[in-house]
Amino acid sequence: MSKTESEHLIIFDTTLRDGEQAPGISLDVTEKLEIAEQLAKLNVDYIEAGFPVASQGDFEAVQAIARTIQGPVIAGLSRTSLSDIDRCYQALKDAENNRIHVFISTSPNHMEHMLKMNEQQVIQEVKRGVSRAKELTDDIEFSPQDATRTPMEFMMEVLNQAIQSGANCLNIPDTVGYGIPWDFGALIAYIKKEIPGDYIISTHCHNDLGLATANSLAGVSAGARQVEVCVNGIGERAGNAALEEVVMAIKIRPDQFNNISTRINTEEIAKASRMVSRLTGYPVQYNKAVVGRNAFAHESGIHQHGVLEERSTYEIIDASSVGQQGRQIVLGKHSGRHAFVDTLDKMGIKIQGDTLNSAFTRFKELADRKVQITEADLEAIVGEELGIHSQDEFTLDSLELKGGTVGTPIAKVTVVNSDEKLTADAEGNGLIDAACNAISKATNTSAKLTDFNVSSVTGGIDALGDVIIQIESDDIKVTGRGVSTDVVEASARAYLNAINRLVKVKQRNEIIQKVSGP
Ligand code: KIV
Ligand code: ZN
Repeated sequence: MSKTESEHLIIFDTTLRDGEQAPGISLDVTEKLEIAEQLAKLNVDYIEAGFPVASQGDFEAVQAIARTIQGPVIAGLSRTSLSDIDRCYQALKDAENNRIHVFISTSPNHMEHMLKMNEQQVIQEVKRGVSRAKELTDDIEFSPQDATRTPMEFMMEVLNQAIQSGANCLNIPDTVGYGIPWDFGALIAYIKKEIPGDYIISTHCHNDLGLATANSLAGVSAGARQVEVCVNGIGERAGNAALEEVVMAIKIRPDQFNNISTRINTEEIAKASRMVSRLTGYPVQYNKAVVGRNAFAHESGIHQHGVLEERSTYEIIDASSVGQQGRQIVLGKHSGRHAFVDTLDKMGIKIQGDTLNSAFTRFKELADRKVQITEADLEAIVGEELGIHSQDEFTLDSLELKGGTVGTPIAKVTVVNSDEKLTADAEGNGLIDAACNAISKATNTSAKLTDFNVSSVTGGIDALGDVIIQIESDDIKVTGRGVSTDVVEASARAYLNAINRLVKVKQRNEIIQKVSGP
């Protein structure tokens, strides 16, 4: 059976590369490794770990993932220039298996405004870049960027050149989300028919028109045997095709796809979704397919009755098959450290040292305020503690608030910075604003708050508030997250978390500037 007729659909996850390019996301190496480990548990076939030439941080993250993660093939993105490809390979070379993903723009628009190259020059670049990659590895993917706005004749020339130079995977990016399912499907079918050779056709669809999943599936239906996806559909602008949507569509409707299947452990999907949301600071919309908190909720009496009688009356997916059923754990304020660790262990969360100590303290505080503690609550507080690193500049010591409907809200905050306590008070147009102003004063940092999102981890009056904040300073955007039964405290924690990330990014930029000189 040739590769294109294979009944296995390759899942190429690009959460850590294209997903990470979404505005405001800035993951460090530890966070990328945590996600990569979860992607390996999901059993994706490929992890695109980054774009090594983009920054030293990207290089180190790809290298760390290549050296650590077992199972999936580790891929890195590269432009066609020889030095980029060599650098990409340097980052990947210690992986069990690696792939170099070479791309160049092929649409007239990109060639004129970005590349400043003509068609012949682009063809030469493809030849040069893919041939160099072939000297370094056997697994090469080639992407003509902005494929859906590239004239067909030229694209065929480019793709033929990529195959002749050694590519074994042709990825067709709908870079600006311009494709319409039947049109995109026809494009894939045409390429499969016209380009001879033993290669895999892949889709890479963006969601500008909300069609990324539909276009990816149209591609599969037309013969694509790899899909490029991101957990929660994150990515540039409106994002990329969502892993969970494409995978579950294939699983629920194999009849529509020639009985093709993926190797994804779907029970790990919800965990991957929560982890990516926590670490990127991108909330998952309530009604998001497969992973939204309402994806398995039934409001109307008729639906509730039906589902209680027989789940399949109003549900096509069994929630547990995507890991969506939060168990009610039996931890309360009398539970000890041993039970706490044991429960986390059963949830697959392994923490130790300072993180464990502070997570246990947070758990005890929560148990004092909340009677029923769910798995989602535990995951949220542990997640926040995991996001707080020992290298963080500032930690929250205390927060005092005065305000209500009368008078000006005032907050007094104390943060700790290498054993020194810094206290400041500030007014605000509300308690949250006052708390953030006080934190800015205490830490002597100024940043513009560009986004604020609050949701509850579970239902009920004593639910944990989960706050995600985005701040911007000197063109750097970062997110922060905080949880607490008190939303003002959750906001203060989120704000301080964002400030710590900002400080880290600025320190890193200074080091890079010093190393690379003026
Ligand atoms: O959207 C795009 O064109 C890309 C390519 C680099 C594959 O992400
Ligand atoms: Zn993309």
